[in-house]
Amino acid sequence: MKPMLSIRGLSVAYRRDGQEVVALEAIDLDVGAGEKLAIIGESGSGKSTLALAVAGLLPASAKVAGTVEWPSLGRAPVNGRDIGFVFQDPSASLNPVLSVGEQIAEVARTHRGMDWRQAYTLAEELLGRVKLPEPAILRRAYPHQLSGGQKQRVAIAAAIAGKPQLLIVDEATSALDTIVQQDIVALIRQLADEDGMSLLFITHDIALASEIADRIAVFRHGRLVEVGDTGRLIASPREAYTQGLLAAHLGLEDVSR
Ligand SMILES: Nc1ncnc2c1ncn2[C@@H]1O[C@H](COP(=O)(O)OP(=O)(O)O)[C@@H](O)[C@H]1O
Ligand SMILES: [Mg+2]
Repeated sequence: MKPMLSIRGLSVAYRRDGQEVVALEAIDLDVGAGEKLAIIGESGSGKSTLALAVAGLLPASAKVAGTVEWPSLGRAPVNGRDIGFVFQDPSASLNPVLSVGEQIAEVARTHRGMDWRQAYTLAEELLGRVKLPEPAILRRAYPHQLSGGQKQRVAIAAAIAGKPQLLIVDEATSALDTIVQQDIVALIRQLADEDGMSLLFITHDIALASEIADRIAVFRHGRLVEVGDTGRLIASPREAYTQGLLAAHLGLEDVSR
């Protein structure tokens, strides 16, 4: 079967203070239809750059080489419709002057050609799907009236309102406390399974990655260290760096040094 997303030889460099900062180097990676792929790596390893490159959201100043193709789509993707994006900070992605129902409905109107009535009905349904209480009332709330976890659930509802084939989740649970984080990861997995969405789940947390992903790709300093099925990668990592990540997670001595 054709992969949903095919990345070949992707390199990205930024300019900062007249210097070139290489953020990604010669990345080859595929994501299958309905596959849940986790991208893990320390801060600065290039994870967000990869997500932005996939969604075509890199700043114009970034220097890009290589290709990002969509074989099963057969055309360029449209953000909001083909790709849903959930960022780390829901306060930044949500519009403070629109009710949560309005912003979810807006996505459905723009990308699914619904009228307001249909879009509001869908918004209410999606608030239920992301397990927020009393959707009929909550849809009139504004982002500042919600907790961090609730806002992230709204951001997820907005991200799936266009019925995307790929959901990109970039450190979306990192700012939340552990229990909420677990709930939201379980929710994202359930939504991806129910809708048959492919998932690009970005995290620095190997344990979280292993809970959600079919496959894990390990990044370091802009390079792909190794990629493999979650079970295999956790049970027998091939690279010393991955072994070190696992050992650190288990609280063992870092065996890579
Ligand atoms: N807009 C930008 N301008 C300049 N450098 C950037 C920009 N965005 C990211 N970088 C640099 O690129 C590298 C990779 O960053 P990023 O993709 O954000 O990593 P991660 O998401 O894994 O923390 C880092 O060295 C970072 O400082
Ligand atoms: Mg990042």
